[in-house]
Amino acid sequence: MSMSNVSRFIARRVELMRSSEIRELLKIVGSRKVISLAGGLPDPQTFPKEELVRICSKVLMERGDSALQYSPTKGVDEFRYELIKFLSNKGVKVSKDDDLIVTTGSQQALHIIALTLIDPKDYVVMELPSYLGAINAFRLSEPNFIGIPLDDDGMNTDILEVRLRRLYAEGKKVKLLYTIPIAHNPAGVTMSLDRRKHLVELAEKYDFLIVEDDPYSSFTYEPTDTTPLKSLSSSGRVIYVSTLSKILSPGFRIGWIVAHNDIVKEFEKCKQSLDLHTPTFTQYLSAEALRTGIVNSVIEKAKAIYKRKKDVMLEALEDYMVPGCWWSRPVGGLFVMLRLPREDMNTSEMLLDAIEAGVAYVPGASFYVDGSGANTMRLNFSYPKEEQIVEGIKILSNVIKSRLQ
Ligand SMILES: Cc1ncc(COP(=O)(O)O)c(C=O)c1O
Repeated sequence: MSMSNVSRFIARRVELMRSSEIRELLKIVGSRKVISLAGGLPDPQTFPKEELVRICSKVLMERGDSALQYSPTKGVDEFRYELIKFLSNKGVKVSKDDDLIVTTGSQQALHIIALTLIDPKDYVVMELPSYLGAINAFRLSEPNFIGIPLDDDGMNTDILEVRLRRLYAEGKKVKLLYTIPIAHNPAGVTMSLDRRKHLVELAEKYDFLIVEDDPYSSFTYEPTDTTPLKSLSSSGRVIYVSTLSKILSPGFRIGWIVAHNDIVKEFEKCKQSLDLHTPTFTQYLSAEALRTGIVNSVIEKAKAIYKRKKDVMLEALEDYMVPGCWWSRPVGGLFVMLRLPREDMNTSEMLLDAIEAGVAYVPGASFYVDGSGANTMRLNFSYPKEEQIVEGIKILSNVIKSRLQ
């Protein structure tokens, strides 16, 4: 039989793996002269290259035999120890009933959570909009998604409460809720402390787990209470996920989960079958980067750069964007959401025109589990240079204008 069509060999689950629009885009964008406002890449200026050269040779000379070896699935002990110290300085409570497992990026943490906790048809609550990578990871477990809208104070927990009441009256039960409470991707908002407390109460009352994804709380641009849900709940039902991707290097692929130790035991079994363990060498380097304060200095430097770039993007939008468009004013994170003037406009359909004109973004529909958001897009300001941000917004405005005519 011919191998020109291999579909008969492909597992059914692959149909659920929608290739990330971001990654597809980056492929095109990388091969053309296009200003990318698409991905969520850190500014390479923030990479501590010289410090890492020093650390690399120190780790290899002093700990090479261990650093180049296999290591425990849960992570290298000295890295886990440094991480717990770092988290407690950030106000993330790791209680005596909790445990920490290192993951290969926080994307793997989301995958492990999906594989370990979500069965087909389970009810899973997501924000509208939510992080595309989480939607894609959870989708593989074939849940029923429930979308709850966001506003400037984060997920609207009153709407959530009404939905929960209705579901429970119908005999249905939510298993898990996923949120990015601080400096949301893509919405740029932070959930108010009152709502965070309300959410924790609802999780108690309706007996569901909360997955708190926290890659961006180091990047808040206004005075913000960043108390994590993990520290507001004492019952062990919050699963805290974070990463070194934006505060050291995404190339290291280092993330982690803090959760009740009985749940972490299940995560450990799952991770073992995925990749045995996260690369030992980058764990040793990360331990050293945390211990010697390198991570803290990256955070300080990156936060100043991103705050400035955020302001540049907002000014460019004020100066050049087509009247009638709405955009978010992020209080944290790396993204601005833009909404086009008309409901019937579709940013996915407009994307090729934009790329031809020289700018890329991520169409908004991919962030909404309820199929809405087609006239929105996500714009990144951390990676492009300041002059590219201005140029990119000018080009984008012209593309939108020509669609409106
Ligand atoms: C909200 C959120 N969660 C998780 C991730 C995954 O990050 P990584 O796998 O690099 O840790 C990202 C990346 O942009 C993100 O924005």
